Amino acid sequence: MSASSPDPSARPSAAPDDPAPSVVARERAPAVAIVPLAAEHLSALVDLWVASWAKTMSEIDFEARRPWLVEHIGRLEADGVAIRVALDGSVPMGFVTVDPDDGHLDQLCVAPDGWGKGVAEALVDTARRLSPAGLHLAVNADNRRAIRFYQRQGFVETGRGSNSRSGLPIVFMAWPGSAGDDQT
Ligand SMILES: CC(C)(COP(=O)(O)OP(=O)(O)OC[C@H]1O[C@@H](n2cnc3c(N)ncnc32)[C@H](O)[C@@H]1OP(=O)(O)O)[C@@H](O)C(=O)NCCC(=O)NCCS
Repeated sequence: MSASSPDPSARPSAAPDDPAPSVVARERAPAVAIVPLAAEHLSALVDLWVASWAKTMSEIDFEARRPWLVEHIGRLEADGVAIRVALDGSVPMGFVTVDPDDGHLDQLCVAPDGWGKGVAEALVDTARRLSPAGLHLAVNADNRRAIRFYQRQGFVETGRGSNSRSGLPIVFMAWPGSAGDDQT
């Protein structure tokens, strides 16, 4: 989604610079493996996307948006957007989409069972590696959990606007990149 409104997507092949699937051990959670999207993940990703967004914005019928999500993921893949999936064993727990050309993070979504367990952080770590020059996104202004999460991950607010489809207020956020991370 523009991280603002639930709009998703995915690509089955690894990006050229993609490392082997990484295993991220979290203090708060079992390890998850981050892998490129594969066809067998798609059904579970749609299920977790509906569940996660229904919990986040209960006033919207996300069940009705299943076909849109599948199409959107296909569009993102066609556009060369990287789509990475967090696996707990063989079970998808979340996914992220990043355009390595411009750093746009369109979708970040974790299954409700994975909230608060470091799965989202593992996905954002992957997004940072895919776009080390920086990331940017839009998030619904009332999505306080997501905004808090992004702030903790080093994103800062860069502006305000409204969603072109829903008209709901959105916050633009960006992570400035890792260029200065090792400099003191
Ligand atoms: C957004 C998302 C990826 C974050 O993952 P997560 O595992 O829930 O995130 P975390 O638990 O690590 O962090 C959430 C933070 O928000 C805080 N929080 C929870 N509810 C909150 C609320 N109502 N208001 C403010 N902060 C809140 C938590 O305490 C935590 O902060 P802390 O680590 O300082 O205590 C996940 O919740 C999700 O998939 N949500 C639905 C889809 C979505 O909103 N995607 C992002 C759209 S841009």
